[in-house]
Formats: sequence, structure tokens, C-alpha cells
Amino acid sequence: MRIVVTGGAGYIGGHTLIELLAGGHQILVIDDLSSGSLETLDAVRSISGRDFEFARGDIRDEGFLKRVLLEFRPDGVVHMAGLKSPIESMRAPLTYFDVNLTGSINLLSAMEQSGCYRMVFSSSATVYGEPIRLPFDEEHRTAPATPYGRTKLVVEGLIQDWVAATGAKAISLRYFNPIGAHSSGKIGDRPKGSAINLMPYIVAVAARQRDVLNVYGTDFETRDGSGERDYVHVCDVARAHVAALEALDQLSGHSVVNIGRGESTSVLELVKAFETATATTVPWRAAMRRPEDLPSAWADVTRAHTLLGWRAQLTIPEMCVDAWRFNAGRVDVD
Ligand code: UD1
Repeated sequence: MRIVVTGGAGYIGGHTLIELLAGGHQILVIDDLSSGSLETLDAVRSISGRDFEFARGDIRDEGFLKRVLLEFRPDGVVHMAGLKSPIESMRAPLTYFDVNLTGSINLLSAMEQSGCYRMVFSSSATVYGEPIRLPFDEEHRTAPATPYGRTKLVVEGLIQDWVAATGAKAISLRYFNPIGAHSSGKIGDRPKGSAINLMPYIVAVAARQRDVLNVYGTDFETRDGSGERDYVHVCDVARAHVAALEALDQLSGHSVVNIGRGESTSVLELVKAFETATATTVPWRAAMRRPEDLPSAWADVTRAHTLLGWRAQLTIPEMCVDAWRFNAGRVDVD
């Protein structure tokens, strides 16, 4: 298939490109490089031994999107471009809605114009908000706590309405916590600005680039007091996109699907697992809870299996070793 990947130069995007290229698809990446990088795209070419097209631009630029889609004529679009920091979104809601929502409207409209009616959208488990029950299944009420989360939910709704109006097919993947890196050590999570998640921070502390890990909250009602999340290897997440694109053939309408492992790991458990898997130490200290952080969140992954035939395969120690190897391979972890 001919696939457009918006946000393909980013962390999840780069890993997804590798899987799509391995499946023989022709790719056009659209990215403004605000959080992704050319380095990631070059590494993808070197890992996969295959080339693809790249158009640099902002998804808010409707004319640009229409031009490149009309020329490329995609069979499907994987839509990953968007701003992704919940904290930053509280300071800049207008920018978050502008990029994430206006960008998605432009993209759907460009897809219509080029005759493409298949989409896989990068959504987030953050759309659920406070849990009424755990694990989160896809029927759980949605009540996102941040502007970022609200943009994801609004775009899911937009896609739902677009699908109903046009007969298009779409799947929104609600990612839980993707971490880790490609086993080559050539691509991984290299956050820019304030979008720093737990694993890149653990790696920075283990590498002595930061002194100490702040554990945001040690008095939650959880197994050990620290926050519990459903960490899933980014390469498993990448494979979920290929599975979703393939599943679109058999499906109709719009489906939302959780992407996680169906298990929770606490911050302190992840720190311990990292230390053991990589033979490093990660000093940590208790810090204040972040606003809007949940004590626990993990996925019911039944639907991913029944609808997409996808299941996560890689383990927490593998996520740790791969994240560490990406840290410029400074330490041999094999
Ligand atoms: C957050 C967002 C989610 C977004 C994801 C990726 C919320 C509720 N969720 O997930 O929508 O898709 O980021 O950008 O905002 N932690 C520490 N120390 C650190 C960093 C994190 O203790 O230095 C803890 C957090 O409190 C949390 C866990 O580690 O318990 C995971 O945090 P993080 O990696 O930021 O992801 P989420 O907050 O789950």
C-alpha cells in the first residue's frame, strides 16, 4: 500500500516506519520536525535498507497537505503528528487545539480530495481520565483532565463523524505508555523541550547526565506508593499500526482500540527492573505529585487481540535494555 505517515520523524513514528517498510509499503512521511528529527529518518533508512519520501511541513498548512496528498495518492494514512505534552498543553491550550484539531481537519479534507478513506490515528489512554474501574476497557467513560487529552478525544469524535459521513474506515489507537527503543540502538526517545517522560529520565540518571530521578508521588494508594502505568515496548506499538492498517480491510466504521500490555508497573518497580537489566544505579528521591497524574492506569487489551490480532510481546526488561542501548550505546548491556 501507499501510506502517508504524519509525524513519522518522531519517536513512535520512526519505529512505525521500520515496520511499514519491512511490510513492503511505499511511504511518504509528513513532519515539521518540531519534535521529530532528520536523524531519525536517516536511521530508519539505514536500519531498513529502504528509502521513502519526506515532505517537511506543518499540518496546519492546508494547501501544503492537499498538494502532497494529491501528488502521492495514498491508500491509507497513519496520523501521528501532533503536540504531546499534557503539562505544556495546560499553558498553551490554543496552540494544542490549533495543531491537533485544525491539523486533523486539514488532513481529513486533504484525504477526501485525494480519494483516500482509510486512517489509523494516534490517540492516547489519557482520554479516559479518572478511572471508574480498572483496567480501562474501551467502553470506559472518557473524561480527559488536560487540554492535550481533550484534543485527542475531540479528534477521535471528528474521525467518527467523518467516517459516518463518507463511509471511510478508521481505527484510533489509544496508546498507554510506549517506552524502549529499536534493538539496533539507532532510534529511540530523544525528547525535546518539556515533553520528558519517565524512561528518558531514568536513562539520563543512569548515564549520570542528571543527578537524581524525581519520583512524582510516593503516597498513592498503589502497591508501593508510586504511580502505576501500562508500559509497552515502542516496537510492539509500531507493529500495532501495521496490524491496524491490515485490519481495516475487514472492518467498517471507526474503532477505538487500547494499545498496552494489560499489566501495570510502578515507577519504583520500573527503576528496579532497569537497574537489574542494565547493571546501573538510578538514584531517586520522593517528589511532589504532578498535577492531574493518576495513581494507576492500565489497559484491558482484549479488543486489540480480537480486532487486530495484535498482542504485545516484549517484556519490561527488554524495554529497559533497549532504552539504555539507545543512550548512544555508551555502555555495553549485552
Ligand atoms: C503522560 C500523559 C499521556 C501522554 C504521555 C506521553 C497524563 C495523565 N498522561 O503519561 O497522555 O500520552 O505522558 O507524553 O498526563 N514520573 C516520575 N518521574 C519523572 C517522570 C514521570 O515519577 O521524572 C512518573 C509519573 O508520575 C507517572 C509515571 O512516571 O506515574 C509515568 O509518567 P510519564 O512517562 O510522564 O507518562 P504518563 O504521565 O503516564
